[in-house]
Order: sequence, then structure tokens, then C-alpha cells
Amino acid sequence: MPAAFVLGTRPEIIKLYPVIAQYLSRALPFRIIHTNQHYSPELDRVFFEQLKLPSPDINLGAGSGSQGEQLGRMLPALEQALRQVNPSVVYVQGDTNSVLAGALMASRAGLPVAHVEAGLRSYDLRMPEEYNRILADRLSTMLFAPTEGAKRILLDEGYDPATVHVTGNTVVDTLTALAAGGDQAGWPGERWGVERESYFLVTLHRPENVDDPVVLERILGAIDEAAARATIKNLLPLHPRTRSRMDSFSIVPGPNTLLVEPVDYFSFVALQKNARLVITDSGGVQEESCVLGTPCVTVRESTERPETVEVGANVVTGTGYDQILAGVQRMSGAPGGWRNPFGDGRAGERIVKIVLETLAG
Ligand code: UD1
Ligand code: UDP
Repeated sequence: MPAAFVLGTRPEIIKLYPVIAQYLSRALPFRIIHTNQHYSPELDRVFFEQLKLPSPDINLGAGSGSQGEQLGRMLPALEQALRQVNPSVVYVQGDTNSVLAGALMASRAGLPVAHVEAGLRSYDLRMPEEYNRILADRLSTMLFAPTEGAKRILLDEGYDPATVHVTGNTVVDTLTALAAGGDQAGWPGERWGVERESYFLVTLHRPENVDDPVVLERILGAIDEAAARATIKNLLPLHPRTRSRMDSFSIVPGPNTLLVEPVDYFSFVALQKNARLVITDSGGVQEESCVLGTPCVTVRESTERPETVEVGANVVTGTGYDQILAGVQRMSGAPGGWRNPFGDGRAGERIVKIVLETLAG
């Protein structure tokens, strides 16, 4: 019986890659079920191509919409897909609607569910992801915690220690694989006339930041002022959610902020590595900048990645104008050289070993 990987968005493709790569290198059977929550080529196909992943076997065509609409399209399609594939185990990763749908239908079908990146909590219930994480953990039979901290959270919530495994974060595996591939395509900043160490790299897409025009305008104003004070530019590869909100609110960025299309993975990693600073509300970007050694300012009220703050790689500022500026100033002087808290790049290997042993009983 094959394993099934249920995925749907950019970060899930990137972070499930190391687990799928284990199945490929061991010639184990598997199927990829893509919900199609992300479908624009720059959020989807480019990652399959760059990471040399096989195309999805089944595409559920869920697309965009409200949470209810997305889940409403995913659930019956997943029910049917899982019946068709009849997998030995279903892998999900992270905290998106696709993860919730995958974990829910797999567990309702009585299948073992492996949750990669289990045990993260922001304790901010305004975030749809917080519900998705809590529910996906609850529905899973194997919980792969990236850190000891995430494991502690799960044990404090009453999970059976036999089902919780600390593996490291698979994103370190992906970054390690990329590094082994060498410098892939020259300096991507050339496209926009930015040189190494002469820009802040910015990403924004959390609903609580970009769906409210007041908050969005305040964040964009603060980051533009931060760039002006440093006499450099912000490079902001714009998530389509944020682009559509800026268009509908008629918000334009300040003169020091360069809006560009979302970039491919190789380019984005190179841009993170060479940025003076990363400013973000992304989960994965907080982790990657920490692993790559670039200081990060997180424009959110909370983080489910406290390890980044504990090692000195990240500061969580909230979304106040002055707080963001203070955070940028503080991290501009960050000494660097912090410890990588997310593991040794062998998370995929550990996860698959544990899953195979568990299935073998
Ligand atoms: C989703 C996840 C979020 C994750 C993010 C990764 C949920 C609740 N949210 O947020 O946790 O951090 O993905 O990037 O699951 N759009 C396109 N093309 C696409 C996909 C989306 O243009 O391929 C636009 C549509 O206007 C859509 C909007 O982006 O309405 C938001 O997409 P959606 O999948 O609902 O949520 P994300 O903000 O992408
Ligand atoms: N990313 C990318 N191109 C971009 C922006 C982000 O390849 O233009 C990658 C980034 O390296 C990270 C992942 O996308 O691995 C983060 O995804 P996102 O911020 O959309 O989601 P989150 O991690 O917040 O769920």
C-alpha cells in the first residue's frame, strides 16, 4: 500500500519535500494528493520543478475562497481520493486548511495520520492556523515535533509520549539539500537592481495584518520609514492575498519599498541569506532566516516559533509603527552567530524511519 502526502500550499511543498525524497530514494510507493489551495504557478508549480518532485497524482481543485468554502470543497474530494489510493499512512505538514482537511478525512477513514511540524502554538486564536494546528495534532496518530519545546507543549496537553517524536524541522533538510546543490542561478537581486546586504527582505500575508486596511497601511508605513532611516530599499515579494488587499484598499507602498512578484525558492533563499534584515509575518521565513543566519523582525503579536527569539535571531514587535521601527533598529545591531535550534537536516529520514517502524507494529 502506498503512503499518501496531502498538501496544498507553498510551505507544505517545501517542507514535505525531505519526507517525499526519502520515499523516492528508498523506492517506496507513495501518492501526492494536492488540494490545489495554492494553484498560481509562482506559489505551486515552481516548487515542484525546483525540488524535482513528481507531479501530484490527484488534484482536488479546491482553489480559493473562505475557510468554509475551501474545506467544503476539499472534504468530499479527499474522502474519495483516500478511498481510491487506500494508503497505509497519510502525511500532512503544518497548519493550513489543507492540513486540517487531510487530517480530518484520513482519521475519519481510520487511517494512521503523521503530522509533520506538530506541537506549535501561537496561543493567538485570531489566527485560522492556530485552530488548524490544534485540530491536526488531535486527529494525528504520529506527531513529529520539530523541537523539544514543541514536544513539551504536546505532553502538557496530555498527548501519549509514545506518539510524540522530536525530529528537527524538515526545513533544515530542504535548505541543506539546496546548499549541497551549490549556487543555482547567479544573484537574483540583479533583477531589481539590489545588491547583497543592501536591502531589507520583507514578506507579509497573515490575514490579521493584511485584511485590515489600517493595520496594513501602518505596517507598510513603518517598514518604509525603517528603510529610509537605513538608506536602503525594502524588497517585498508580494503574496497574492496581500496584492489583492492592497488593490481593493487602494494602498500604495512608500518610495523605499519595491513590490515584486513572489519569487522561486532558490532565489528566495539567496535573498534571505544576503539581506541586511528579514521583516516578516511568515512562519517558515522566521525559521529559515534563523537557520541562514540573517536577523529577523516579526511583525506579529505572537510567534509559534519561540526558539528563534530564544537564540537571538528574531524579535516579535507587534504591528505598532514605533515598535516595528524599534525592532528593526535592535536587530540591525544583532551580533549573529546564534545556534540553529531546528535540527541537523535529517528530520525527513527520522520521520520515515519512525513511520515505517510504527506501521510494521
Ligand atoms: C494560506 C494558509 C496560511 C499559509 C499560506 C502560505 C490557511 C488558512 N492559510 O494562506 O496558513 O501561511 O497559505 O502562503 O490555510 N491566491 C492566489 N493564487 C493562489 C492562492 C491564493 O492568487 O495560488 C490568492 C487568492 O486571492 C486567495 C488569497 O490569495 O483568496 C488567499 O489564499 P488562501 O489559500 O485562502 O490563503 P493564504 O493567505 O494563501
Ligand atoms: N517563499 C518563496 N518565495 C517567496 C516567499 C516565500 O519561496 O516569494 C518560501 C520561503 O522560503 C518559505 C516559505 O515560502 O520556505 C514560506 O511560506 P509562506 O510565508 O507563504 O507561509 P508560512 O510559512 O507563513 O505558512
